[in-house]
Amino acid sequence: MLRLDLSYLQDFIDEEAIDAMEPLLASSRLTLYNRTGAGSEYTGWLDLPVNYDREEFARIKQAAAKVKENSDVFIVCGIGGSYLGARAVIEALSDPFASLRPAGSREYPLILFAGHQLSGSYLSRLLSSLSDCRVSVNMISKSGTTTEPAIAFRIIEEWMRQRYGLDGARERIFATTDKNRGALKELADNRGYQTFIVPDDIGGRYSVLSAVGLLPIAVAGISIDDLMAGAAQARERYTDIRLGENDSDMYALIRNILQKRGFTTEILVTYEPGLQYFSEWWKQLFGESEGKDGRGIYPASANFTTDLHSLGQYIQQGRRFLMETVIQVETAKEDLIIQESEDNLDGLNYLTGKSMGEVNQMALYGTAVAHVDGGVPVQLLHVSELSAFAMGELLYFFERSCAVSGYLNAVNPFNQPGVEQYKSNMYALLGKPGYEKERVALQERLYRKDNDQ
Ligand code: PA5
Repeated sequence: MLRLDLSYLQDFIDEEAIDAMEPLLASSRLTLYNRTGAGSEYTGWLDLPVNYDREEFARIKQAAAKVKENSDVFIVCGIGGSYLGARAVIEALSDPFASLRPAGSREYPLILFAGHQLSGSYLSRLLSSLSDCRVSVNMISKSGTTTEPAIAFRIIEEWMRQRYGLDGARERIFATTDKNRGALKELADNRGYQTFIVPDDIGGRYSVLSAVGLLPIAVAGISIDDLMAGAAQARERYTDIRLGENDSDMYALIRNILQKRGFTTEILVTYEPGLQYFSEWWKQLFGESEGKDGRGIYPASANFTTDLHSLGQYIQQGRRFLMETVIQVETAKEDLIIQESEDNLDGLNYLTGKSMGEVNQMALYGTAVAHVDGGVPVQLLHVSELSAFAMGELLYFFERSCAVSGYLNAVNPFNQPGVEQYKSNMYALLGKPGYEKERVALQERLYRKDNDQ
């Protein structure tokens, strides 16, 4: 069970500050649950852990079983909310070295990602390394028109059709998109691909517990029943309106009090490398939900103790605008005991008999105290172990906190208007029909810039 530990915040936050902001928190929570706030048409994720399409859930399991039978590799093609949630869960719970084992000895297909950037080199290397593998693909895009995955899919689809023929490709390509609209929906229907749905009332970065996340996660051999059960338990728990009993509300409140005190960047800290993509998912969730109208806490991440040897100096003694939220995994899935050395040349015999997990925990506590002493407020979020159930809890905890926090900041936590600007410039520069005027204006600016240099 998740538990928020605020004991490191004594120097930064007092009861009065919490009491003063509680009424605003209560009204933000009501706005969310009564669905009266900006973007409320995208709050379907709130009840998703209990209110999901059972028939589709069964189809997801069937598709995953089929991919397990006929594929060594499953390519997930999507960007932003259409891949980060799945990647977060898969990388947290899977063997990071599975690709080193021969395909035949792996229990589940390897999950590889494409369409999350525009690198031709990446995609070309990915495809050329698949010559000995049996491949299936999941193209995921709610809008169906996002450039990065659309380009990658055009290339991957052609590769699949060359390799398996039209009928064979049809057996191996799955599309997850809007129920009725969009280019991907039309393409998938036209080609006869099996489709899964991104519900109308759920936006990309809140969609991990829909087919968007569930199909890749199930293909990776992770229990989607447990994942949903963890999220369902969190959903139930965080309906409690008593602040002392509701860590999701408390987390939203604390980070906003700290923001008002000048802590404008929040670092999500993890001590397990497998959680790196959880941090990426979290950054998108909070970055796109809160960063608008000149507001929002900047979401950053760090992987300790690795980054203590790169970012640690800055965090300890640099400019003071940083706060930390540390995910503490109490029990490691696997661990190693440090053995005694006869000559003790490395001086580590004082650690004999301790596990690496214990050392990691002491690093966590030591760092938390050091950072607090250096003026960095630290909250700890305890997770008992990394399991599908716990990942479900974590995902729901942060989705809910993010929505409440967005309303506390008086923004619409469910849109992302700012993302359009780069797209429209890119379309104009690439000569997309309809962007002729923008193209001329941009070329003028770029030309002037070149001349200025
Ligand atoms: O949260 C969001 O809505 C976005 O980040 C999208 O997930 C991302 O832009 C991908 O969009 P789509 O699924 O339409 O391709």
